[in-house]
Amino acid sequence: MRQRLHRATFALLITLCACGGGTGELGEVDPEAAPATPTYTAHVGPIMDRYCTACHAADAQPGPLEGLDYSTCSGVRRGWGGVLETVIFTETMPPGGAERVTSSDQLTLERWHAQGAACD
Ligand code: HEC
Repeated sequence: MRQRLHRATFALLITLCACGGGTGELGEVDPEAAPATPTYTAHVGPIMDRYCTACHAADAQPGPLEGLDYSTCSGVRRGWGGVLETVIFTETMPPGGAERVTSSDQLTLERWHAQGAACD
């Protein structure tokens, strides 16, 4: 499983990184499609609420998912590796037929984190 995931991640990076000079895996997305300096309050919080917190908030999911809380800024910072992997690399979250995270929302998240992931 781990192995498969890595291979999928790698394939996706190759696909996305036909980028000729972008910032990385999202280099192909129109840079204008996301705010230049996203903030947690105005952008990231609402994105996480829209796609994630129904299942990943402190009180939403007892059991194995308990540690995954995307309803606060510190939770998003702590769980950033999981966001990167499931939202940007593998696009496996949210699961099933749920609304996909748009590429401009992906870029917003990535930009916020690259700019220091401030909580204001
Ligand atoms: C409908 C409920 C639901 C929503 C919405 C949801 N998740 Fe999940 N998530 C799960 C379940 C259930 C698991 C554990 C089983 C699995 O991996 O499928 C999980 C697992 C995870 C994991 C653990 C690693 C993994 O792949 O198993 C991460 C990280 C994660 N979700 C991130 C997110 C993010 C980020 C969002 C929003 C973009 C999100 N999830 C939206 C239900 C959800």
